[in-house]
Amino acid sequence: MSEIMNTPMTPAAPAAAPAGGVLLQPSRGRVIAITSGKGGVGKTFLSANLAAALTRRGLRVLVLDADLGLANLDVVLNLYPKLTLHDVFTGKCALDDAILKAPGGFSVLLAGSGMVEYSRLTPEVRDDFLRLMEQVVPRYDVVLLDTGAGISDVVLFTLSLASEILLVATPEPTSLTDAYATIKVLATQQGRQQVRLVVNQAVRPGDGRAITAQLQAVLNRFVGAALGGERSAGGAAVRLIHMGDIPVDKAVKEAVMRRQLLLLHTPGCPAALAVGQIAGRLVDTVLKAIA
Ligand SMILES: Nc1ncnc2c1ncn2[C@@H]1O[C@H](COP(=O)(O)OP(=O)(O)O)[C@@H](O)[C@H]1O
Ligand SMILES: [Mg+2]
Repeated sequence: MSEIMNTPMTPAAPAAAPAGGVLLQPSRGRVIAITSGKGGVGKTFLSANLAAALTRRGLRVLVLDADLGLANLDVVLNLYPKLTLHDVFTGKCALDDAILKAPGGFSVLLAGSGMVEYSRLTPEVRDDFLRLMEQVVPRYDVVLLDTGAGISDVVLFTLSLASEILLVATPEPTSLTDAYATIKVLATQQGRQQVRLVVNQAVRPGDGRAITAQLQAVLNRFVGAALGGERSAGGAAVRLIHMGDIPVDKAVKEAVMRRQLLLLHTPGCPAALAVGQIAGRLVDTVLKAIA
């Protein structure tokens, strides 16, 4: 955490149009983006297992592989898609033909490889995504976007499609610094007022709560001041909501190696129970009206 405190904090840029020019609509359906500042922290693991946990609670769930550069949801789920998002975007197949059933009972739309041309945010990429979201959102109770890491144009655009942000961070200082950078951009460029935080690979009980409090303090100090005006009243530029911790658990790696969902492979292990609790909290908060 000291790294965050020591990072030179340039004043946040003035609020600008969201990357991609998409305006946030609070009334939009339940689209939850699972993202992170740093890569490799557990976004895909959480997306897939959270989807399984929400499905078990009776929700119709779609996971969209929105990490177009480094898509690997197919690997985690042991699926070999013949048709992907790319085929939908290029009109080679109908949307329904590319939606697969995953082992946990939820639906997935995979990116697979060959999506490199989507790693740059062009008007076509934007339009393709917007059209896709218009079609899928009404058909599911919740759409989870397994996004890329960082603050590139494409990542920020996929985040702008979501009504809720679930940011995954680990207790590592590098992950926290990158999480801070992501939250800052979400607050200043997309006008986000809240970001939900999951601390993955937690080592000690209480890690997540402490990290949330520390991150919140830095955000209040630097982003709150930079935003100025009403939103910094009381110092809260953007509110972090701690949704839970997932402990380091060797069962996670074992499940990934076997290409199985943790919730099916080792449902009683600490990490699986933690994912179940986070699903419960999502149901009690953002998904309350439909669960
Ligand atoms: N709670 C955990 N305990 C142990 N290992 C984990 C945990 N979460 C993630 N991992 C490891 O981190 C790897 C990367 O996770 P992944 O979901 O692919 O990251 P991302 O999608 O953020 O790049 C996993 O394959 C797994 O080996
Ligand atoms: Mg991933």
